[in-house]
Amino acid sequence: MNSNSSRRQFLQVGSAAAGGLMAAKTILLDPRPLGAAQKAASGKKLRFAIIGIGMEGSGVLGTAITLPNVECVGAADLYDGRHTLAREITGNQSLPVTRRYQELLDRKDIDCILAAVPDHWHKRVVVDSCNAGKDIYCEKPMSHTASEGFEMVDAAKKNSRIVQIGAQRVSSALCAKARELYHEGAIGEVENVELTLGRNDPTGAWEYPPPPDLSPQNLDWDTWLNDAPKIPFNPERFARWRCWKEYGTGVGGDLMVHLISGMQVTLGWNEPPRSASALGGIFRWKDGRNMPDIHVVLFDYHGVPVYVRLGLGTESPESARYMGPKGILDTGEFDLRHSRQKGVDTSPSYYTSSYPQKMRDEYVKQWHEEHDVPPGQEPIGSDTVYRGNDWDDLRPHLFNFFQAVRTRKPVVEDAVFGNHAAVACHMANESYFRKKTVYWDQATRSIVT
Ligand SMILES: NC(=O)c1ccc[n+]([C@@H]2O[C@H](COP(=O)([O-])OP(=O)(O)OC[C@H]3O[C@@H](n4cnc5c(N)ncnc54)[C@H](O)[C@@H]3O)[C@@H](O)[C@H]2O)c1
Repeated sequence: MNSNSSRRQFLQVGSAAAGGLMAAKTILLDPRPLGAAQKAASGKKLRFAIIGIGMEGSGVLGTAITLPNVECVGAADLYDGRHTLAREITGNQSLPVTRRYQELLDRKDIDCILAAVPDHWHKRVVVDSCNAGKDIYCEKPMSHTASEGFEMVDAAKKNSRIVQIGAQRVSSALCAKARELYHEGAIGEVENVELTLGRNDPTGAWEYPPPPDLSPQNLDWDTWLNDAPKIPFNPERFARWRCWKEYGTGVGGDLMVHLISGMQVTLGWNEPPRSASALGGIFRWKDGRNMPDIHVVLFDYHGVPVYVRLGLGTESPESARYMGPKGILDTGEFDLRHSRQKGVDTSPSYYTSSYPQKMRDEYVKQWHEEHDVPPGQEPIGSDTVYRGNDWDDLRPHLFNFFQAVRTRKPVVEDAVFGNHAAVACHMANESYFRKKTVYWDQATRSIVT
């Protein structure tokens, strides 16, 4: 395929769908995540610094430096091993590194910040960056509590800063295609949504191996705890912080936030849910965690039910299904299936088996007279599958951020958007812990029962 070819390329028609009964045509979305857009990165070279070079930050940093016209000029982490890692990733043995991110915020030669710190640090890092005049890309979920999110929105607004939250799929070609199809009326008005995801392995359940050399000598443990209760140095808490509500936001904030963010983009929704009712528990990973490993939630989004199933006990595909009277949009990491439905009877109603013979025969005859299409004009039921670049690819989303920093045009996932997605996660957690339905109260900007 030639690099100048159009964004969407028709590759293949007529591959069989599951079961072989339904024909599906397959369309390949441009596999290059950025395509020609990369050329737009002209103008000022951006100098960025990164805060948090752990599991995600190492990927964010490694990806960011592959983008055009940007340069990493500093890195902060509370664990010294990650200073070494930042230098390894950038290939710059003299990259300035520090335990104190405030030093990076004070530097006038730094244009913007990328942050991949645990959830309980997001608010402070974002508010401090905005107050220091720095634009910031901060990992999802935006906040650790609902109230924090509003402080972050206010800080971005007050300082006119670009804030991009890092649920990267919102910048993917797959989400863009789903949004386009939905707004063209592909399924009609959405009537319900199903968001699902399941894992079944220790790493998927966050039982990460702490770095073997980790110690209070090479990690500033007290600072790492931030506002969480003070406890003695604990390597498991450092590596597996997602398991505890004191630092993380559970499967809701870790995983569901991606599905909710994708839903917001696809359907054009930008609001918190009205209510959330959750059930769940710790079924499998009884390792001392306090966050559930099974979490099922029913949200009310202005009357539309959104059902969510998240589990760490059984592997199942990650999928967001949007259903309406004209069919289904089923989105996954690499593809999007559009299944069309007519919503009409295709044969005489089976209810007429309850009619006496003569009445049934007359009904069936009349039905065929009124509904049969001429031979050769029968509609062929057909699905369309769009295949695209991995919706978890960080490049398009980071690129969108850097472009916004250059142009001052809005990002795709600003603080208001990120806050709405995060509030849904907090409502799911509140409902689980309070064991009752919780509601969003816009007047007090808080979760109530
Ligand atoms: N977008 C995605 O697909 C994705 C994937 C994984 C994680 N994440 C998000 O990325 C964030 C980080 O997750 P992770 O798995 O990389 O965690 P991690 O524990 O592996 O890394 C976090 C790093 O931040 C450092 N840190 C903590 N507080 C700091 C501070 N005040 N100053 C400087 N450094 C500090 C820690 O020392 C650690 O090295 C989380 O919010 C997580 O939800 C996003």
